[in-house]
Amino acid sequence: MEKILIVEDEENIREILARSLREKKYLVETAPDGETAASALAVREFDLVISDLKLPGRSGLELLDWIKENTHDTAVIIMTAFGSIENAVEAIKRGADDYVVKPFHLDEIEVKIDRLIQEKRLLEKNRYLQEESDARFGSLVGSSPAIREVFHKIDQVAATDTTVLITGETGTGKELVAHTLHQRSPRAAGPFIIAHCAAYSQNLIESELFGHERGAFTGAVGQRKGRLELSHQGTLFLDELGEIPLDIQVKLLRFLENKTFERVGGSEPITVAVHVIGATHRNLLQMVREKQFREDLYWRMNVFPINLPALKEREEDSLLLARHFLQTKQGNRHFTLTRFSERLLREYHWPGNVRELENIIERAVLLSTGETLRVDLALARPSEEYHLGAENLGKILEKLERSLIQDALTQSSGVQAQAAKLLGIQRSTLQYKLQKYGLIGSES
Ligand SMILES: Nc1ncnc2c1ncn2[C@@H]1O[C@H](COP(=O)(O)OP(=O)(O)OP(=O)(O)O)[C@@H](O)[C@H]1O
Ligand SMILES: [Mg+2]
Repeated sequence: MEKILIVEDEENIREILARSLREKKYLVETAPDGETAASALAVREFDLVISDLKLPGRSGLELLDWIKENTHDTAVIIMTAFGSIENAVEAIKRGADDYVVKPFHLDEIEVKIDRLIQEKRLLEKNRYLQEESDARFGSLVGSSPAIREVFHKIDQVAATDTTVLITGETGTGKELVAHTLHQRSPRAAGPFIIAHCAAYSQNLIESELFGHERGAFTGAVGQRKGRLELSHQGTLFLDELGEIPLDIQVKLLRFLENKTFERVGGSEPITVAVHVIGATHRNLLQMVREKQFREDLYWRMNVFPINLPALKEREEDSLLLARHFLQTKQGNRHFTLTRFSERLLREYHWPGNVRELENIIERAVLLSTGETLRVDLALARPSEEYHLGAENLGKILEKLERSLIQDALTQSSGVQAQAAKLLGIQRSTLQYKLQKYGLIGSES
């Protein structure tokens, strides 16, 4: 609902106008002079100010100048006396949006108000859409220079058949980038086939990739198409390239050279038209040096590299992404991020990158009861790894204790009294432990 401030020393006009605008469902405040108006404007945001030009103390024109300098986008309608039209012209020159000449009919000013408010709504909507689209590239969200560079590279390579290698830490969005690339390519209508190279056992990976003929090995009861064949006229995403065994790497290299292969146990060459994208979180060059990855395959794959920076290196994206995930996960609730939450999100080091952020927002939505997102509760997850031998019993017990306290807080939606009851300890003991483990920021 829009907020309007009426500045007018004649009580009669002020009250009639206020009443009629309130009936139109605007939120209305009034001020008898420029000083009162400026002090209201200094602490509250108004969408529109309707001000008389001739006011006791600070004049309407001075108030107008003040508004233009000190508020963002507050619209102004000036009321001026009959016979002083030159004042209205001056006001428009100085930035007023419109004017009415006294005495005016209520309808006349209401039409002007409605029109200005409509324009303002449209402007705000467009600005929001613009911001949204500036920070978006398909399903990818981000506005940091580093992620923009990634968007640009996707654009450069999507229309070509050049092999792409996506690198980056876990959770930085490698798969999403590969998918976006596919969607922006001329092969978008074709299949997007993922080969999760780390997920197949050593003896199955070959048949997963290349397929097999009936009887090719024990258990091969029928002929089966592999991922390479399934990706014909689409995109093949070879995820976790670094996990492919050396003997399969040779076969893959041959395939990359002429897009032709044979099924396991078969001799008929099969040729596919496919765009190949690889991804890895490992340092392939290092693996080449250690003879775990073929150098020739490395160069075949690394034709067009796209590196995804870690989330902590693109701080401005973490808040954008947090808001994005909040939109998609909050359902019909409307959470706001407090300054405290924003600070936590900005300062956290994100070892699990975007995936971790996504999980944290999801958890925070679950843990939050009011309208304020409890990022603090969701973030304060302890590491649940214990290192026997490296840590003494005391340290391990502390981790366990922290973890149990966390669970209790989760179950009690952050209500400390309830969490203390669950743990069978005094509330004051819980508070001491919260402080000790840095779980502070939780409500009572
Ligand atoms: N820029 C982004 N905008 C929106 N969502 C993103 C972005 N980057 C990553 N995500 C989301 O984060 C999650 C992790 O991304 P993804 O699976 O692509 O990461 P990955 O680099 O392949 O991770 P891993 O190495 O662990 O396989 C997904 O849910 C993905 O949709
Ligand atoms: Mg992945």
